[in-house]
Amino acid sequence: MVCPSLCTQRTFLDAQKAVIEDFAMNKNKKEREFYSLDVGDSTFTVLKRYQNLRPIGSGAQGIVCSAYDQNLERNVAIKKLSRPFQNQTHAKRAYRELVLMKCVNHKNIIGLLNVFTPQKSLEEFQDVYLVMELMDANLCQVIQMELDHERLSYLLYQTLCGIKHLHAAGIIHRDLKPSNIVVKSDCTLKILDFGLARTAATGLLMTPYVVTRYYRAPEVILGMGYQANVDIWSVGCILAEMVRHKILFPGRDYIDQWNKVIEQLGTPTQDFLMKLNQSVRTYVENRPRYAGYSFEKLFPDVLFPADSDHNKLKGTVRCVA
Ligand SMILES: Nc1ncnc2c1ncn2[C@@H]1O[C@H](COP(=O)(O)OP(=O)(O)O)[C@@H](O)[C@H]1O
Ligand SMILES: [Mg+2]
Repeated sequence: MVCPSLCTQRTFLDAQKAVIEDFAMNKNKKEREFYSLDVGDSTFTVLKRYQNLRPIGSGAQGIVCSAYDQNLERNVAIKKLSRPFQNQTHAKRAYRELVLMKCVNHKNIIGLLNVFTPQKSLEEFQDVYLVMELMDANLCQVIQMELDHERLSYLLYQTLCGIKHLHAAGIIHRDLKPSNIVVKSDCTLKILDFGLARTAATGLLMTPYVVTRYYRAPEVILGMGYQANVDIWSVGCILAEMVRHKILFPGRDYIDQWNKVIEQLGTPTQDFLMKLNQSVRTYVENRPRYAGYSFEKLFPDVLFPADSDHNKLKGTVRCVA
């Protein structure tokens, strides 16, 4: 039997090698012709094969445009990483995203089609462009819609398939949130933005403050060191938001985020408290005691009209909760 952790390590190293080769190959290609255009505050300098650039999104790492790829004869998304080498954190983020996208091959994880830099030498090397499959919208837009049971469970199912695949490869995403999940009008779904993902094996001294607040698991909020199940917490928060059309734990800040969790789910058990380090435990123990809300209060019947197919959803949400 092949040891899964060795397998993962090997895949990771292969992907690293492939990324370096890609850059080297691009360097030798005759067709390295670029053109520049302004997109918002940024300038995109892309290969001529990519035409009709239009901004479609932005985040902490950079700006994303849709474009038409004349070589592949299809639409693509191009993400320009903003100043990826400005400091070690940005460089690590960029590197992780690139290698993990290259390494993972699954229909519910965004696929990397190309990667290039317009700079011609290592000395000038400054910008990284990632070319991906193009999707239609992110989940923030979908959450506002009234989805039937079939569509909602299909979205949830695909999210879990993507996560299962990542976890099997020892990768924790750590930043699952609606803006990092993209969908097509045919209801297919892909997870993206691996800037904060890391392989589980390296995570002994893990950075707190990694998941966007609302979707942060208690382990992350309380700096406990975490495992792959922090991603499942995020999936639960996203599902609840799709059902209720509002954020489940809308914390105003770091402290308020924890208050929102305990008010609704109740004060954690003694077993849980024992896992906290002393200063955090003292803080948590000194919070007011909460019994937590009942399932009916969190997800009232009015969200699941009895005469509709949506009623089946209640069972699904109960199972996840
Ligand atoms: N492949 C894609 N297809 C469609 N939209 C995308 C794609 N990639 C990114 N986007 C849009 O751009 C936004 C920012 O992309 P993301 O990779 O999350 O960047 P950041 O790392 O800066 O957060 C996403 O929320 C989404 O709306
Ligand atoms: Mg993002």
